[in-house]
Amino acid sequence: MVAILVALALFILFSSSVNALSLNYYDKTCPRLESTITSAVKNAMINDKTVPAALLRMHFHDCFITGCDATVLLASKGNQKAERDGPPNISLHAFYVIDNVKKAVEALCPGLVSCADILALAARDAVALSGGPTWLVPKGRKDGRISRAIDTRQLPSPTFNISQLQQSFSQRGLSLKDLVALSGGHTLGFAHCSSFQNRIHNFNASFDIDPSLQPSFAASLRSICLAHNKTKNAGATLDSTTATFDNVYYKLLLQGKSIFSSDQALLTTPKTKALVSKFASSQQEFDKAFVKSYYNVIEPVQLKIIVSSSPI
Ligand code: HEM
Ligand SMILES: *[C@@H]1O[C@H](CO)[C@@H](O)[C@H](O)[C@H]1NC(C)=O
Ligand SMILES: *[C@@H]1O[C@H](CO)[C@@H](O)[C@H](O)[C@H]1NC(C)=O
Ligand SMILES: *[C@@H]1O[C@H](CO)[C@@H](O)[C@H](O)[C@H]1NC(C)=O
Ligand SMILES: *[C@@H]1O[C@H](CO)[C@@H](O)[C@H](O)[C@H]1NC(C)=O
Repeated sequence: MVAILVALALFILFSSSVNALSLNYYDKTCPRLESTITSAVKNAMINDKTVPAALLRMHFHDCFITGCDATVLLASKGNQKAERDGPPNISLHAFYVIDNVKKAVEALCPGLVSCADILALAARDAVALSGGPTWLVPKGRKDGRISRAIDTRQLPSPTFNISQLQQSFSQRGLSLKDLVALSGGHTLGFAHCSSFQNRIHNFNASFDIDPSLQPSFAASLRSICLAHNKTKNAGATLDSTTATFDNVYYKLLLQGKSIFSSDQALLTTPKTKALVSKFASSQQEFDKAFVKSYYNVIEPVQLKIIVSSSPI
């Protein structure tokens, strides 16, 4: 009975937000919204080339925890720690860019635009301005009010194998194809040594280093992380063209030059491996698949799927 009521409540909640979203949500009330956000992101990129990676990661982080509701931006209150103070926050940065965008948007159309919409638009711009594809963003999302550090446990870990990744994605209505295409987000950005330490020291009982890593690549990761042992910021870029949204991530993955175990895991089933090869050989196929899968993350249709699979 309780389960039914909860499912019903969720259904009403999600179906109302489904109705609210639209591509032209702010057309009348804030016509310059999107161009304002795009120029703010562009300006931020001039001074800091890592901004697009930060924005894309931030949005993924936000969407995977309680939906794309901007709760990643909320500050901790007293001893109630927020998502942004949870353990995986080592990869969150450039909050100032969103703060600046928010200020510009408030000056333009005060009190109208949700942070959830701003974040979704900024992530879209980050990809497009890095040479990647672009897409239309359905808007009218409401901001969440509850942000709990403990919920960041729901993020997939970089040490996950393919079944753990598949489970994490399927809980959000995302397929194996979505997993492979969205992992291509790792065409941008950087990882700290702590995120791939498992592959370069004490990998398992028989190997110190993950044998699926290309040996000289593994040696270079190890020396970076050893040499900078004392500094918290040591690490490696996620692909060799870290500020360009391209398919080099997949090409390197096939050569044993991926950073996370979760990247390598994409080669461990025939289906996912075939998709990696496809994206490695065609930037166009990757771009197309990335956009489609990104929609599966941001479009509330997904929420409908999750709800209808609950036992009403
Ligand atoms: C498949 C599961 C995923 C796992 C396990 C994962 C894990 C991680 C980890 C551990 C980091 C680096 C943390 C650090 O050491 O600083 C990272 C960075 C990043 N991730 Fe993922 N991620 C996943 C999926 C995604 C998706 C779906 C996207 C976006 C489409 C994405 C975009 C990024 C970006 C852009 C960075 C770089 C951030 C920066 O340099 O500021 N990741 N990811
Ligand atoms: C990450 O969390 C720590 C501790 O909870 C906090 O001091 C730090 O400011 C957070 N980093 C970001 C980028 O919010
Ligand atoms: C993945 O890891 C889990 C938990 O350690 C384990 O139960 C499962 O068998 C592993 N799956 C694969 C395909 O290795
Ligand atoms: C260590 O990992 C390798 C490569 O994944 C695997 O072939 C081997 O069986 C593993 N050994 C142990 C003891 O788990
Ligand atoms: C690096 O740090 C790890 C643990 O943080 C330690 O076990 C290792 O001995 C250190 N290596 C060097 C070269 O300082």
